[in-house]
Amino acid sequence: MSLFSADNLSINFGGIKAVDGVTFDVAKGEVFTIIGPNGAGKTTIFNLMSRIYEPSGGKLVFDGRDITNVAPHRIAALGIARTFQNLELFDSSTVLENLLLGRHVHRRTNLVENFLFLPKARRAEIEDRRAAEEVIDLFGLAPHAETPIGSLSYGLRKIVELARALCIRPRLLMLDEPSSGLGAEETETMARWIGDLRRRMGLAVVMIEHDMSLVNAVSDRVVALNQGRIIAEGSAAAVQNDPEVIRAYLGG
Ligand SMILES: Nc1ncnc2c1ncn2[C@@H]1O[C@H](COP(=O)(O)OP(=O)(O)O)[C@@H](O)[C@H]1O
Ligand SMILES: [Mg+2]
Repeated sequence: MSLFSADNLSINFGGIKAVDGVTFDVAKGEVFTIIGPNGAGKTTIFNLMSRIYEPSGGKLVFDGRDITNVAPHRIAALGIARTFQNLELFDSSTVLENLLLGRHVHRRTNLVENFLFLPKARRAEIEDRRAAEEVIDLFGLAPHAETPIGSLSYGLRKIVELARALCIRPRLLMLDEPSSGLGAEETETMARWIGDLRRRMGLAVVMIEHDMSLVNAVSDRVVALNQGRIIAEGSAAAVQNDPEVIRAYLGG
């Protein structure tokens, strides 16, 4: 059974069909990859899945539940996490602080509860810390826990962003160009982490990526997107060799 599905998903921006009738599903434990030239609509699909954008048509289902109309701030609590094409971390805050902020979106207590039900708020805080420390251990980030993001290498920042997404203990992880800004060696490290996380946590991953070494290393299934539509689907090799995909890249 699929963990996540998008059915006939569409959105227009001023008459341009940025995503145009896209249908796919992702199984538990699977790495599903979206490739395609710049402007194909890949990040827009993520923004639709995160409910940041309102689809003009179609349906989103997560874990058997229709999430097409779920509020964006509820998405993380359902177990869907993401990273961004351009890092979205707080540079002057430490690694630990960034991870705790990542947890915050998951909190069930609100500000009023924090005052009225102190024990509940305190339990949530302890749980936040525990989750953050677990992830710090997993990624071997302990030596950097108190380091401000701004003084880390770009490669480490990308790992911290991945770590932050995992702090909510997601079941579906969305990665928008995890290799962007990384050198060849750092990209290999990223590939190892993605493979590891899938194996150890049974995470489903939806990844947008242009580095074919990373696509080949971790993908179970690949789709190619062009002008908002899926033009090929299959193994990484099959999709890269598809004539229409090659044309789309040359045309772009
Ligand atoms: N908020 C927006 N408003 C208007 N146009 C947008 C918006 N977001 C994306 N687009 C347009 O949608 C198309 C797809 O963009 P995007 O999803 O970012 O492409 P990709 O991630 O595949 O490079 C582009 O033409 C882009 O300009
Ligand atoms: Mg993009």
